[in-house]
Amino acid sequence: MRDLGFVHKFVPPTGGSQLTLLLLHGTGGNESDLIQLGHELAPRAALLSPRGKVLENGMPRFFRRLGEGIFDINDLVDQTHNLAVFTGEASRAYRFDLGKVVAVGYSNGANIAGSALILHPETLAGAVLFRPMVPFVPDVMPKLSGKPILILAGSRDSIVPEEETERLAGLLKRAGADLTLRWADATHGIASEDVAAAREWLSEKFPDS
Ligand code: MLT
Repeated sequence: MRDLGFVHKFVPPTGGSQLTLLLLHGTGGNESDLIQLGHELAPRAALLSPRGKVLENGMPRFFRRLGEGIFDINDLVDQTHNLAVFTGEASRAYRFDLGKVVAVGYSNGANIAGSALILHPETLAGAVLFRPMVPFVPDVMPKLSGKPILILAGSRDSIVPEEETERLAGLLKRAGADLTLRWADATHGIASEDVAAAREWLSEKFPDS
């Protein structure tokens, strides 16, 4: 498999689906982590799963941080750009429609997906964000007019406080996104009710999932 700038996995679609899920793992994960989740969320969609290029004590991440929840914004911006370039190159290499890519990110992966929605909104048709934070607040938010975005938050999450989730939801909503916020009685880890909610939301917003 060609590298295209990121170690990655690509799983082709089945049944003529045009949808591609861009799977973005959490800190310490890799390109295999979310493949099973991707199949559960959208059984027919193609899956594109890169491994984050930054290492923190040997653990892959999508961008550098200075501490828990304190992001290196310059690196986040650079890595978000790299991810957008990778997605474009992958769409040419694997022949999927760049206009039908939905990000599915968990934790650190959800945070770079949020950054991509701010910096490169044209690269994502929508996003499913498991346990996201506010990546950063730009001077000017892009227009996210009608873009479907699902936030899956945990009411017992010790890493992402409730106000942080509400702040992100408000930011995306004010930019015009078609935002859904779902709370699970769960910690920072993905719970089965998150998966069920994401599957239902995807099949409603993206019928060829
Ligand atoms: C981050 O660094 O992106 C967040 O703190 C989530 C995580 O722990 O990876």
